Amino acid sequence: MNILRNYGDIMQERYDELLNILNKANYEYHVLDNPTITDQEYDKYLRELIDLEIAHPELARPDSPTNKIGGEVIEGFEKVRHDIPMLSLSNVFNESEIINFDDRIKKEGENPNYVCELKIDGLSVSLKYKNGLFFSAATRGDGVVGENITHNVKTIRSIPLKINKAIDIEVRGEIFMSKKTLKSLNELREKEGLPLLQNCRNAAAGSIRQLDSKIAEQRKLDAFIYHLPNPEDYGIKTHYEALEFMKSLGFKTNPNNKIVSDVKGIIEYINEKGSLRESLPYDIDGVVIKVNEIDAQKRLGYTAKYPKWATAYKFPATEVLTKLTDIIFTVGRTGLITPNAVLEPVILQGSTIRRATLHNEQYVLEKDLRIGDIVSIRKAGDVIPEVVNSVTERRNGNEIAFVMIKKCPICGSDLVLSKSGIDYFCTNDNCPKRNIEALIHYVERKAMNIDGLGERIVEDFYNMKIINTIEDIYSLNERKQELIELEGFGEKSVSNLLESIEKSKTNSLERLIYGIGISGIGEKNAKILAKKYINIDNLINASLEELIEIKDIGPILAKNVYDFFRDSHNILLINNLKKLGINMQYKGEVITENPNIVNKKFVVTGTLSNYGRDEIKSIIENNGGITSESVSKKTDVVIVGENPGSKYDKARELGIEIWDEQKLEEMLTLS
Ligand code: IVH
Repeated sequence: MNILRNYGDIMQERYDELLNILNKANYEYHVLDNPTITDQEYDKYLRELIDLEIAHPELARPDSPTNKIGGEVIEGFEKVRHDIPMLSLSNVFNESEIINFDDRIKKEGENPNYVCELKIDGLSVSLKYKNGLFFSAATRGDGVVGENITHNVKTIRSIPLKINKAIDIEVRGEIFMSKKTLKSLNELREKEGLPLLQNCRNAAAGSIRQLDSKIAEQRKLDAFIYHLPNPEDYGIKTHYEALEFMKSLGFKTNPNNKIVSDVKGIIEYINEKGSLRESLPYDIDGVVIKVNEIDAQKRLGYTAKYPKWATAYKFPATEVLTKLTDIIFTVGRTGLITPNAVLEPVILQGSTIRRATLHNEQYVLEKDLRIGDIVSIRKAGDVIPEVVNSVTERRNGNEIAFVMIKKCPICGSDLVLSKSGIDYFCTNDNCPKRNIEALIHYVERKAMNIDGLGERIVEDFYNMKIINTIEDIYSLNERKQELIELEGFGEKSVSNLLESIEKSKTNSLERLIYGIGISGIGEKNAKILAKKYINIDNLINASLEELIEIKDIGPILAKNVYDFFRDSHNILLINNLKKLGINMQYKGEVITENPNIVNKKFVVTGTLSNYGRDEIKSIIENNGGITSESVSKKTDVVIVGENPGSKYDKARELGIEIWDEQKLEEMLTLS
């Protein structure tokens, strides 16, 4: 009995120890942004904790990090009435409105300090703790009644499940998604053919509205805490003190919070943080200005909607309203049909916006955009204009609902829906617009970089039947005189053009891979493929399995590459280009084309004593070889180190040449 109790105590002690290590690590990583243990160490402790929880569920504590993993699925969002309403803030847009705000406060007989804070662009949340343990979380809703989002908020790493004091407390703050997380989430969605999330705020709001907390957990949300509704309960006299108090409890507060004494200080803060905006890892849309002294806050009180002791300065608009006058369709080089918004011209951040892509049918339907709508436009990443939403209140009933076309707007061929069910394609391989777009893509700067063949000229040449195919570009020199006589051309520009065409023949392989227009293969992936395969024949012969294995390529793109080279038209194009003398070799970082290595396919198995796995792969690639993860009939050499795996057995079975480390080194050394 005694022995068993002792065993239980030991287990509990180890469990508590692990939990403390993990919660401290979590806090240091997610709140302080200052990790002190490695991810591997964290995973090791977490694994041990999970094993203990499985074996002894009675040990589990409510603040266990396993509660952050998610998995709880709810049926719907329960309504929650806020004990203290969650008010919104009044807005100010310029210096004189800030002066007015300060004047009104002074008129009430106050002369306060202000706390300036960043206005985080996310969604506000109220968190309740009981006896120091996380109890519930709710959205703002209409300010009076919000929704219970406890299951999702539990998964947010920077929100503690246990705070540093065993007290009951409510705190409020902003849940947000970092710019980096949005970017990687959208990269993934793009690969999966899902519509992209428009901005950090929508992405955070959408993630919090998931019924399945596993999805919310994967969205890597974050939170800053900025408001304590009952400071007097904790003997707190100023807002800044409240921020410090919340920080000491383990909440993440924003490091930019600052006390200033007057309007001048507020303006300086706005200017300073405004210039920092782009470099911040999360979106902000302004600065919040709050009276610091709690007594003064109490005296100033509230209007029906806002506290009189705080206001939000909003950065100048990045969104403008304009009319959606039409939706037109363009055809891309792959035949992809894209709906585009035609807008009443409007100036936004210094440039006139007339068009914006609407991506696909689903995008338009989801936003319920109708021709004639007043729509809000913003610049995504401050460059490409996008339609955010339509202002439905401005509708007068004459708007025309969007209908997806069924035939190609250029050649009239039937459209087919892609496997993902999102994109429509023109089925005509010879659709003139597709051909023109393919030519434009081939010559563009990031591809074969042929100067003097701009979009308009390509289109004109195509319409004049001077260029019909990519191959035709290389016989333009035979038509030199004809070109010189064309309107707008002269001896000099034609010579320059022909020179540029000639020069493009020596481009490194990645430009050609990009230029031939394999669906989804952009500049970066083209480089990865060129570097790996060194010449086009190796790439053409690459198996699907091998392509899938390439880091960053992924199964969808791998299939696109594989299928591209299984199409006889594309092989014919490559062969024709070869005959025309276009370089098909990667020229990048290949140091030597070592005859012992070049064009051979290598698989490495086991541990080498002088080289790391990635290191040996790049050495092989830099010598002109190709590396792969799995052994097949196409493998030329298997390099075997200590403790080789099943790849070695397979190599022997298939009779593939086997080199040990010494042999490899001999082969790498060129005499
Ligand atoms: S204080 C009574 N501080 O902005 C005080 N709000 O436009 C209530 N927000 O609903 C809010 N950053 O969602 C406050 N540092 C900050 C904020 C902030 C973002 C949001 C919050 C609020 C909205 C008002």
